[in-house]
Amino acid sequence: MTDTARVIVITGASDGIGAEMARQWATRGVALVLAARQVDKLEAVAAQCRTSGARVAVQRCDVGVQADCQALAAAAVAAFGRIDVLVNNAGVSAHALLGDVTDLGWYQDVMRVNLWGAVWCTHAALPHLKATRGQVVAVSSLAGLVGVPGRTAYSASKFAMTGFFEALRVELAGTGVGVTLAYPGVVATEIRYRGYNASGQPAGRSGLDERGAMTVEACARLIVDGAEARRRDIVMSAKGKAGRWLKLIAPGLVDRLALKALNQDTHR
Ligand SMILES: NC(=O)c1ccc[n+]([C@@H]2O[C@H](COP(=O)([O-])OP(=O)(O)OC[C@H]3O[C@@H](n4cnc5c(N)ncnc54)[C@H](OP(=O)(O)O)[C@@H]3O)[C@@H](O)[C@H]2O)c1
Repeated sequence: MTDTARVIVITGASDGIGAEMARQWATRGVALVLAARQVDKLEAVAAQCRTSGARVAVQRCDVGVQADCQALAAAAVAAFGRIDVLVNNAGVSAHALLGDVTDLGWYQDVMRVNLWGAVWCTHAALPHLKATRGQVVAVSSLAGLVGVPGRTAYSASKFAMTGFFEALRVELAGTGVGVTLAYPGVVATEIRYRGYNASGQPAGRSGLDERGAMTVEACARLIVDGAEARRRDIVMSAKGKAGRWLKLIAPGLVDRLALKALNQDTHR
């Protein structure tokens, strides 16, 4: 079946920022393809989106599995005939001091979901995005611009996303496909509680100072509006914006500020 409504594919749409982006986009006359591993949670988000008038397809997808990413692009085209925007939002967090880690296996898991998931989904969707002169959105992090202590795995995965999508943006110049990189700071979701600790288990707590966290609604709004405006970068929070420039002129100061953002009991 083909359709003329714009089609937005969102990974990690079962919770947090991804689910909220879906709810906000649903009010804008689009068709949505929502992807994550937990189908029951996706269905609940889909039902909310349908009450706003959006047509919604749900696809179970573990972005850490390339075949799932390929199936996601195929399912979007099968459901709605096109892909206009791909939002690479699915991600996992981690918080550990490298010296406390005995088995580095989960470092590779973080990389596979955060980097490879986005690479695989983008590769699979690219021909369809070229056909619509669409937009790829990558949800990186301020930790993808500044190295954050206790977050070597997470920062590495987000820096890698930043490098991949900056290179891709230039590569796609002339194709009509745009690339938006979003850099949220601390947003009030459960991601850090679910993220890996040094033993590779769910942390159950946040290693960051959560005071002043941005609301999920505000973060999602910035990404949805930024994607619609085909913005190059969305750097969130005044601290994030300042930190980016400060890093060029006073990198040692940025290191000290990054250290201050940690929960004191997680650093020693
Ligand atoms: N919250 C923050 O402070 C913050 C700051 C900077 C950047 N970010 C980035 O923003 C994005 C969303 O984070 P969030 O805070 O909304 O996290 P969240 O509330 O924990 O939600 C994460 C989403 O990703 C999905 N997901 C996790 N692993 C997946 C996998 N292997 N395959 C498919 N989906 C997977 C989860 O769904 P299932 O479990 O159902 O698969 C869920 O829908 C992430 O990329 C994160 O790194 C967040």
